[in-house]
Amino acid sequence: MRTAVVTGGASGIGRAVARDLAGKGVAVTIADLDEAAGERTAKEFGLEFVPLDVTDAAAVSAVLGAVRDARGRLDFVFNNAGIAVGGFTEELTLDHWNRTIDVNLRGVVHGVHAAYPIMLEQGHGHIVNTASLAGLVPAPLMLPYTTTKHAVVGLSLALRAEAAGRGVRVSVVCPGFTDTPLLDHANPGLPSTEVAARARESAIKTTGRLYSVDRLAADILRGVARNQAVIVAPASGRAAWRAARLSPGGAVRVAGLATRRLRG
Ligand code: NAI
Repeated sequence: MRTAVVTGGASGIGRAVARDLAGKGVAVTIADLDEAAGERTAKEFGLEFVPLDVTDAAAVSAVLGAVRDARGRLDFVFNNAGIAVGGFTEELTLDHWNRTIDVNLRGVVHGVHAAYPIMLEQGHGHIVNTASLAGLVPAPLMLPYTTTKHAVVGLSLALRAEAAGRGVRVSVVCPGFTDTPLLDHANPGLPSTEVAARARESAIKTTGRLYSVDRLAADILRGVARNQAVIVAPASGRAAWRAARLSPGGAVRVAGLATRRLRG
């Protein structure tokens, strides 16, 4: 039986991906900081739950190692846990930056560092890192977030190139705004700025409406089955990514206009 570990699997995108993987007969372990939500999700979909803080490298390694030892294989690792941190850059403290880097970037690094040697040894496996559309286009008003997501895209594509031919696949997921609780608790444990407090409202205003997590989970699993390098959804996100590649300067100008509107 194939196995998967999904970090941040208690809620939102990770929860939907874990549910759909289980529906395809994969033995899924969800690993999350939020123990109550993790237990609830695990019970609802018949998954295994382990408490995990992805900022703790040794704990990440222990979770992945335990799944491989218990089931004899580790097929998929979804490094998905993440937090939203936003605000005008001049209002952000170093704690905003460091917390975002610790969870969104170091959390992924810890997952890769633990999963990759296991997958090389067994000769197969797929690492799926969750970045964001904010990792592909200039996304102001959430600079720590944007920085970490660009880093996760770079890490994933470079590792994919390095892993090619050694049996290990690497994909990166870049969703546009999706309807999850993420934006409801922007800046968790950190001073919230006016922009962060209005993030969800602003996202809905900018994009029309938020993408459904169920559709996104289907997009992700389709992309993983096809071994796509970069999985971008919804279609409006792919259009924004294409436009930013064609005209990086134009993308900055558009992002600047949106920022000025929000600044008022
Ligand atoms: P969510 O808030 O619904 O789920 C995130 C999960 O990660 C939560 O269960 C939370 O407890 C867990 N988590 C947070 N810090 C953790 C830590 N240190 N260790 C372990 N678990 C931790 O949010 P959502 O939207 O499902 O986010 C999942 C990923 O998707 C994140 O990486 C996010 O940046 C990314 N994303 C989300 C978008 C959106 O609009 N919702 C758009 C683009 C990317």
